[in-house]
Amino acid sequence: MRAAVINRFGSPDEFEIVDDFPAPYAGEGEVVVRVTAAGVNPLDYKIRDGSSGMAAQLRDEDFPLVLGRECAGTIEEVGAGVEGFEVGDRVFGMAPLDHKGHCYAELTALPEAALAHSPEGVDDHVLGGLSLVGLTAWVAVEDLAKVTPDDVVLVHGGGGGVGFMAVQLARAAGAQVYATASARNAQRLESVGAIPVDYNEQDFTQATPRPTVIIDTVYFGTYEPSMDHLAEGGRLVLLPSLADVGPAKERGIDVSIPSIAPDRERLDALAARVADGTLELTIAEVLPLREVARAHEILEEGHTPGKIVLDVPGD
Ligand SMILES: NC(=O)c1ccc[n+]([C@@H]2O[C@H](COP(=O)([O-])OP(=O)(O)OC[C@H]3O[C@@H](n4cnc5c(N)ncnc54)[C@H](OP(=O)(O)O)[C@@H]3O)[C@@H](O)[C@H]2O)c1
Repeated sequence: MRAAVINRFGSPDEFEIVDDFPAPYAGEGEVVVRVTAAGVNPLDYKIRDGSSGMAAQLRDEDFPLVLGRECAGTIEEVGAGVEGFEVGDRVFGMAPLDHKGHCYAELTALPEAALAHSPEGVDDHVLGGLSLVGLTAWVAVEDLAKVTPDDVVLVHGGGGGVGFMAVQLARAAGAQVYATASARNAQRLESVGAIPVDYNEQDFTQATPRPTVIIDTVYFGTYEPSMDHLAEGGRLVLLPSLADVGPAKERGIDVSIPSIAPDRERLDALAARVADGTLELTIAEVLPLREVARAHEILEEGHTPGKIVLDVPGD
């Protein structure tokens, strides 16, 4: 089958498109998905360049490696013990963190528990990029920060993949929401009820009241001032998995980092909200699989307005 592989850790130049990668089969409790769209996430480039903690768990025999943790597509094969999914069903979801994913390929085998049925009327490109950012924002806003209507929430990186979801979920929880972002994201943030703060023009510690919750998807350059700005007794959620919670803990701040797992009930709920128009996933760019290196370059620049998705059957 066709797949984008890397043979070693390194730059985006390491990607190679091959047409003869061994096709997966559906093991017990798994289904094989014919991938229409694969979401591209910062975790992918952190595995590609070897900097993620997950990269440290990879062995020589894992290469050539197919990256990609989430996708949407159609079920091609159903393994033993799978209930509720049939060949031909449209599905989307994300691989659990102890699974290598392999979604940058025509076919991928995923545990059935990692998947949900795709709702009618929602494009696979949207569903292919929804799972990871949607579940992360859900854990950040509801499980960790426990946002209520009494909260003033500040989201750093509100125009990004996780940030834009977090903004919308915090608004849905009834909070007042400020979001740092560059000017090009301002209108999109206002359209979902957030108050944008252009970080290139304004100091967020001056432009916003003291937040009771800060969700920091940026971290570098925002962590220190956020600790100073957070209201007494506030909650701080840091996004990068390798963020150092030590300084916040030393100051007695309630600090946490999301850790996510596939959750069908939540995937269903996220997709239902997208389908009824109460949650928006912005697709910044759809690129064909052969442009996977370009997709990583764009994402690594760190200013993507939304999600980058690979169109896998696309030429
Ligand atoms: N812990 C977990 O389970 C988990 C899960 C998912 C993601 N993550 C991590 O979360 C981080 C964000 O992921 P993502 O998918 O949302 O990335 P992303 O889509 O690339 O978004 C990053 C956003 O940050 C904005 N930005 C850059 N510098 C900024 C600054 N100084 N102030 C405010 N905004 C700034 C950029 O937009 P502008 O044009 O506005 O600059 C961009 O839209 C990554 O480190 C990722 O690895 C963690």
